[in-house]
Amino acid sequence: MSAPLIDPFARTIDYLRVSVTDRCDFRCTYCMSEHMTFLPKKDLLTLEELERLCTAFVRMGVRKLRITGGEPLVRRNIMSFFEGMSQHLGHGLDELTLTTNGSQLERSAADLAAVGVRRVNVSLDTLDADRFRAITRWGDLAKVRRGIAAAQAAGLRVKINAVALKGVNDGELFDLVAWAAAEDLDLTFIEVMPMGDMGDGTDGTLRLDQYWPLADLRARLAERFTLTESAHRTGGPARYFTLDETGQRLGFITPLTHNFCESCNRVRLTCTGQLFMCLGQEDMADLRAPLRAGIEDAPVEAAIRAAIARKPKGHDFDYSRQRVAGQMSRHMSHTGG
Ligand code: GTP
Ligand code: 5AD
Ligand code: SF4
Repeated sequence: MSAPLIDPFARTIDYLRVSVTDRCDFRCTYCMSEHMTFLPKKDLLTLEELERLCTAFVRMGVRKLRITGGEPLVRRNIMSFFEGMSQHLGHGLDELTLTTNGSQLERSAADLAAVGVRRVNVSLDTLDADRFRAITRWGDLAKVRRGIAAAQAAGLRVKINAVALKGVNDGELFDLVAWAAAEDLDLTFIEVMPMGDMGDGTDGTLRLDQYWPLADLRARLAERFTLTESAHRTGGPARYFTLDETGQRLGFITPLTHNFCESCNRVRLTCTGQLFMCLGQEDMADLRAPLRAGIEDAPVEAAIRAAIARKPKGHDFDYSRQRVAGQMSRHMSHTGG
């Protein structure tokens, strides 16, 4: 083991999110534009290179590894990467997990469980098939629901991530909550962040208009439920509340209304070996060059430490005064959310 990673604000970095591909079989409106240009395959790190980098991070104190994308399960042979990383479970690594759109879970769930994945986060914003198609452009709700069922059948705990979208899924709030309770799914709501394609209104979608602050969502819930703040934590940015009447736990991720940067414990690695120290800032470090310079890991570790030493305090996302600020032109699929 090397010394732990500690940033300039005394935050210990023990959570690595790895985007293994920028490609996806969906085109969610808040994440991608319909006609995306993806990275040339030759720019990607091989799975072996990704494994070597992630292993360096584990050596440096990363205890939680979340695989993201794009859609991680569309990368060819990705199970071999999961299998490789699972060797670290119990030897430095506490959790190996993924965030997925669920489209490929039907065929991958059992394999994921077999390599030691215990829970998955599945993005799903609506239970209406037409609306699902409108949000994801290419997605098939029935297939995703079969994927969720397959994950549960394989023994995986499933958390649903729903982006709160005013005028889109606000009418479904209580249906989503009831569905999650009935299906024994965890549920977390997320404020939509100003990244990538902000919409020009031509297809009727303007991100600013869709922004639904979670304080408003919570007030709606409070019309029917008593919400009690919970001490539960998963190592991510969500804060949890319990609905007293049902005992159900709900998560809230509020990058806009309540900035959680002060307790940030994570960095993001892209499939080309760029390390982003913050989701909401442009600064990054290239780890591909030191990785490809040779078989020695010391230069890689030095590059990681130098990057952590300039991790910024936080993001600058802001929609106040009906204006968007702190916006990022980078698409969410590039850094994996
Ligand atoms: P858990 O382990 O279940 O707590 O996962 P998580 O919430 O860390 O990860 P998930 O992939 O489910 O992310 C849910 C949402 O949180 C996504 O929309 C992410 O973009 C957002 N998110 C995660 N980390 C950060 C962060 O550091 N900053 C911001 N602004 N958003 C984040
Ligand atoms: N704002 C908030 N969440 C987003 N996601 C993708 N784009 C955005 C955005 N602009 C979410 C997805 C997925 C997670 C990785 O990020 O719904 O759950
Ligand atoms: Fe961490 Fe940056 Fe996200 Fe804040 S915005 S929680 S610092 S990654």
